[in-house]
Amino acid sequence: MCVISSGSDRWAWMREQLAEREQVGRLRQLTQTTWLPDGWVNRDGKRVLNLASNYYLGLYPWISETMWRSLNEEAVELGEPGLRIGSGASRLITGHDPHHEALEREMSDFKQTEACLIFSSGYMANAGIIPALVGRHDVVFSDRLNHASIVDGIVLSRAAHVRYPHRDLNRLEDQLKKWTVGASGAGRASRKLIVTDAVFSMDGTRASLEELVMLKERYGAILMVDEAHSGGVYGAEGEGLCHALGIHGHVDIIMGTFGKAFGAVGAYVAAEDIVIRYLVNHARTFIYNTGLPPFVAALVRSRLREVRAAGQARSELMHKAALFRTRLQAGGLDTGEGDSHIVPVMLGSDQRAVAVSAALTEAGVAGLAIRPPTVPEGTARIRFAPSPLHQDEELLRAADRVVDAANQWQEA
Ligand SMILES: Cc1ncc(COP(=O)(O)O)c(C=O)c1O
Repeated sequence: MCVISSGSDRWAWMREQLAEREQVGRLRQLTQTTWLPDGWVNRDGKRVLNLASNYYLGLYPWISETMWRSLNEEAVELGEPGLRIGSGASRLITGHDPHHEALEREMSDFKQTEACLIFSSGYMANAGIIPALVGRHDVVFSDRLNHASIVDGIVLSRAAHVRYPHRDLNRLEDQLKKWTVGASGAGRASRKLIVTDAVFSMDGTRASLEELVMLKERYGAILMVDEAHSGGVYGAEGEGLCHALGIHGHVDIIMGTFGKAFGAVGAYVAAEDIVIRYLVNHARTFIYNTGLPPFVAALVRSRLREVRAAGQARSELMHKAALFRTRLQAGGLDTGEGDSHIVPVMLGSDQRAVAVSAALTEAGVAGLAIRPPTVPEGTARIRFAPSPLHQDEELLRAADRVVDAANQWQEA
């Protein structure tokens, strides 16, 4: 029987577990960070090159005075005293602001879908959409490296959870064959959902989306794609990887966040009107959540215009990532299988990743250790994300520091 001790020892079990984590190099801690305007940050008072964030287009998260003034004036024109901080209620009660509606219209136009729905964050979106689409009698096929918010959405849905090895479409097809749609019972499901990241956040690999479309059509599944890391980055105007590949019309549900390339916060789901109306009625993280702050919705609208016009930043980003990756590879490091703007350096053990990360901070580079359970056991790494703000020379110097640190801290 588990006994929770009383008095000052009440949280002894927490202390023990945290001490265990610390011992194996897996303790998570907050580090205060202030952002500088040139692709650098101050972490705990030390100026370091910021290769650890997701501001892929270099669109900084600051609000300019002119932007603020014009958004405030717009709010006054809408009949309010100024731009509102809070929605004040769920969107379904009194929290549905004109900026939400306008942003949803503009996102539908951007994504070329019938409709869009805004969520407070990408985590909320995945944790709400998936349980709305599938339940106890259904099955979800999910890439093993999908983001935690997808995994949590599946767990919340109570559907059968089939995880296929990363990008292994043969294994996925075997599973799709095994599960037949029909009455309940082992190996039977009412609905099949395939869900995947478009670009995998910790590996920088891309899903084989064209093949996934073929499989979903062959086996009568719903296909949902998470464009968190590809939105803003791929496509002529940053629409995402589905658009870049010309398959967006064949993907049933596309979601993405405003927290990465958009440099803001919030998320969207784009789909047919019927799907969006269904989600409004069934996605619990939409229904039971205070709407995205109206001033954020207003800022994201203005960000959307910047993202669409950021063609040059998109090509610069790819150039910077390739430059950085090539230098790391020339130094003998394993950068995984990806060729996107996310560049991991595979280090193996947690301890090595933590030691390399600390050495990088000393050398003026922010590169953070990513450890299990965020990534599979034995694949701890540093995940780098350059931005168009970084100078080529800064990136080359940083890559050399990474090579030095990785060589200094070899596996025991
Ligand atoms: C693939 C993916 N989906 C969803 C999310 C969650 O998005 P948000 O940070 O907006 O909650 C993330 C964030 O890291 C992500 O990487």
